[in-house]
Amino acid sequence: MHTKKVALVTGANKGIGFEIVRQLAKHNFTAVLAGRDAKRVDEAAKRLRAEGLDVVGVTLDVTDVATIVAAAGWLTKQFGRLDVLVNNAGISSEFATGTKPSDLTMDALRTTYDTNFFGVFAVIQQMLPLLRKSASARIINQSSTLGSLGVLSDPATPYYGTNVLAYNSSKTALNALTLAFSKELAADHIAVNSTCPGWVKTDMGSDAAPRNVEQGAAIAVKLATMDNPPSGKYLDDAGEIQW
Ligand SMILES: NC(=O)c1ccc[n+]([C@@H]2O[C@H](COP(=O)([O-])OP(=O)(O)OC[C@H]3O[C@@H](n4cnc5c(N)ncnc54)[C@H](OP(=O)(O)O)[C@@H]3O)[C@@H](O)[C@H]2O)c1
Repeated sequence: MHTKKVALVTGANKGIGFEIVRQLAKHNFTAVLAGRDAKRVDEAAKRLRAEGLDVVGVTLDVTDVATIVAAAGWLTKQFGRLDVLVNNAGISSEFATGTKPSDLTMDALRTTYDTNFFGVFAVIQQMLPLLRKSASARIINQSSTLGSLGVLSDPATPYYGTNVLAYNSSKTALNALTLAFSKELAADHIAVNSTCPGWVKTDMGSDAAPRNVEQGAAIAVKLATMDNPPSGKYLDDAGEIQW
């Protein structure tokens, strides 16, 4: 039997997900680095193993259920259990293009939801049997403050003008999913929370972002490693974000 705790992080071949894997491995987890491209996954996992960390790669495209099922089957054989699931994979085409809601195509809207919302739902459903085998499982959904209707409707916040409909609303929907699963899974002692990493320097966040990936990874790592984590919360480094 595998005695170390096991964490799976989606979209982890780069950016914040990669750093979450690194930090969880440093916290003595067996950290499973998941990504949609086998070569990128392999290279990223090798980089972390070269640092002496217990990291294994697995190919998992959150928009392709067959790859999620295959990854769950592999985890079952390797470890028989999953302690932490970080749903980190996410996309936005609108930050680069600045697309206005009225110019958004149905295709772009659906594509964003496929990854940021339906992808998370599919991964949770397939990983639940493994999470239920853990004594203290956690699901961490990487959301964004841009998913907060309370924040977006307040002209006094700096987020007010970031009016990107597909991304923002996909994270709002993700927050609804967090709440729904947190209620259902309380009986299984599985904590389910939404997090915001802050504005982080990555391919998505751009070089203009003030935070580095270590800072961006911190809230997810905290929820993954703390005793008695909360559930049904929407959190960043500073505390609770209004829904
Ligand atoms: N950066 C910020 O300022 C910021 C702020 C708030 C929230 N967030 C959230 O934090 C998370 C990570 O963002 P990031 O800044 O690290 O972005 P990033 O550097 O663009 O990385 C995104 C990761 O998601 C992966 N991904 C995309 N589609 C996928 C799919 N279908 N299946 C599996 N993996 C997929 C990407 O893989 P490929 O390399 O194959 O494309 C990549 O590994 C996202 O959910 C994002 O919405 C970020």
